[in-house]
Amino acid sequence: MCGIFGYVGKRNAGNMIVSGLKRLEYRGYDSWGVAVVTKDKLNSSKIDVLKKVGAIGDLEEIKDLPESNIGVGHTRWATHGGVNYVNAHPHYASDKSFVLAQNGIVENYQELKEDLKKLGYKFETETDTEIIVHLIEEKLKTTKKFKEAVRQSFLELKGRNTIIALSTVDQRIVAVRNGSPLVVGVGDDEFFFASDTLSFLDKTNKAIFINDREMIEYKEGKIKLFNVETSEEIDFKIRTLDEKQTEISKEGFDHYMIKEIVEQKHTIKEASVYSAEELLPLVNQIKKSKTVYTVGAGTAYFAASQTAFFLRKIAGIRAIELKAYEMDSYKNLFTKDDLVIAFSQSGETADTIEALELAKSKGSKIASLVNMVGSTTSRMSDLSYYCRSGPEICVASTKAFTAKQAWGLLLAGSIISQHSEMQKKIHNSANNLEGYFTDELFTQIKKLSKKLIEKEHFFVLGRGQNFNIALEAALKVKEITYKHFEGFAGGELKHGVIALVDKGTPVFVISSDDEDLENMLSASAQVKARGAWVIGVGQSNNDLFDDFIPTVQSEGIDALTNVIPFQLISYFMALELGNDPDKPRNLAKSVTVK
Ligand code: F6R
Repeated sequence: MCGIFGYVGKRNAGNMIVSGLKRLEYRGYDSWGVAVVTKDKLNSSKIDVLKKVGAIGDLEEIKDLPESNIGVGHTRWATHGGVNYVNAHPHYASDKSFVLAQNGIVENYQELKEDLKKLGYKFETETDTEIIVHLIEEKLKTTKKFKEAVRQSFLELKGRNTIIALSTVDQRIVAVRNGSPLVVGVGDDEFFFASDTLSFLDKTNKAIFINDREMIEYKEGKIKLFNVETSEEIDFKIRTLDEKQTEISKEGFDHYMIKEIVEQKHTIKEASVYSAEELLPLVNQIKKSKTVYTVGAGTAYFAASQTAFFLRKIAGIRAIELKAYEMDSYKNLFTKDDLVIAFSQSGETADTIEALELAKSKGSKIASLVNMVGSTTSRMSDLSYYCRSGPEICVASTKAFTAKQAWGLLLAGSIISQHSEMQKKIHNSANNLEGYFTDELFTQIKKLSKKLIEKEHFFVLGRGQNFNIALEAALKVKEITYKHFEGFAGGELKHGVIALVDKGTPVFVISSDDEDLENMLSASAQVKARGAWVIGVGQSNNDLFDDFIPTVQSEGIDALTNVIPFQLISYFMALELGNDPDKPRNLAKSVTVK
């Protein structure tokens, strides 16, 4: 979802911004733009803007913009106003004295727009961003000072917003954050103002994380940080980031999705390298908490739900999963004796952050498992852990999901003093994945996918450890095939869902060799009796299955890897359908708005 990238330094700003925006592409966008500021021989400044609808593609160098050392860029994921050239950012002042890009939503935009219209401002775009531009223009009339005008305008905005504004007058950058992410990369005499660290990690691994209600200013080679409310200058810390997070490449694979699916043989291990000592503070916190809530959104919610399942089932902990966007109805329940564990790939999901803010306001403790290092969610946590999966670029989450499960299993094992036994089991499953990705399996799934794309409605049943897996499997297929794929609890079938099953309806049955196997087989028999095309996904084949996809061998923790066949099915179905598996329609990777 919207990405911001500003640059100032000795290199060509246009090219640096394009390179940064490309590294932000994975967040999802539908149009993009770059604005650079140059000075002519008479020392007067001008802005040049390039905006495009669609993808940046293979563009390496911007030839349509002049050489410059300062500029801002933006990838837009449309919220207010359609996808078109006019609405694309950056937007600039009527007199071109400054240019601005925004990530977020101005919730009071209608009110502000009315006020500005009364003052005579004309609106050319349908965006909420243009309101900020005119607000700054208005404030400049009285303050005459750019930083102060940006500050005062920002304080009038409601909602989660981050803005970056570049003044042409004195080549000054002012960026303010509230809710949507903002990080500043610090190179040798150069600075990067961006939505995440990944966008500049190939240039520098030194970063300053900007907190909510903070404003950073670049002027004449120096940066200063301020409290946006009081204007008081505050100290900042430059952190050095882990170099491992720098690589973004398909490494010979056709798509990020298949690369990230195959990578799980390593990432599952990485997420479960935490030692018993490292997990101990969280284990102690769990033991002394009245209730443990696990929270997330989308795939991360399914991972949260799966961890709550492991905590209940393996460790006997009173753990309850909550959808981040439904947290409000639980607000009367949170107390200072509770613990909330957040799950997130990006660590920047607005719904999850708001859920944590709510729990925090009630005094509950916060822990998190996040993939992106240094994200907002990690920084607001009392105890923070990382998936350690490396960049996940494909919009549909794969490796981050299994990483979260691996960590959840390890955590549950640690609570019952079986840390090393559980770690061994997880590592053995990951080792078994080495031999799982064979040409034979890929050929089988490709063949099956060809048949599957003829259908429109699909069901997947899971029970016990596989219930969340069924839900996640269905989400994955929906996201990149645009087919109707529903996940259900095996036990729910006879309570209504079976009415949907007709002759030839594809029904996937996740069948681990565990205590739920018998029930899953009788569910298979019930749908088969109604003419369903039953596809078993499990460790052992059965006569009830018309097709069978084997899962990874494991020692009773099948759920960890059982989603993988579905990740492959969704990938190969998407290819058969001609869809781009890495960039599904309408979706953004990092959902930083509500
Ligand atoms: C699905 C997917 C989303 C995210 C959700 C939360 O493939 O990626 O459902 O899981 O938007 O995102 P994070 O994990 O970044 O909090």
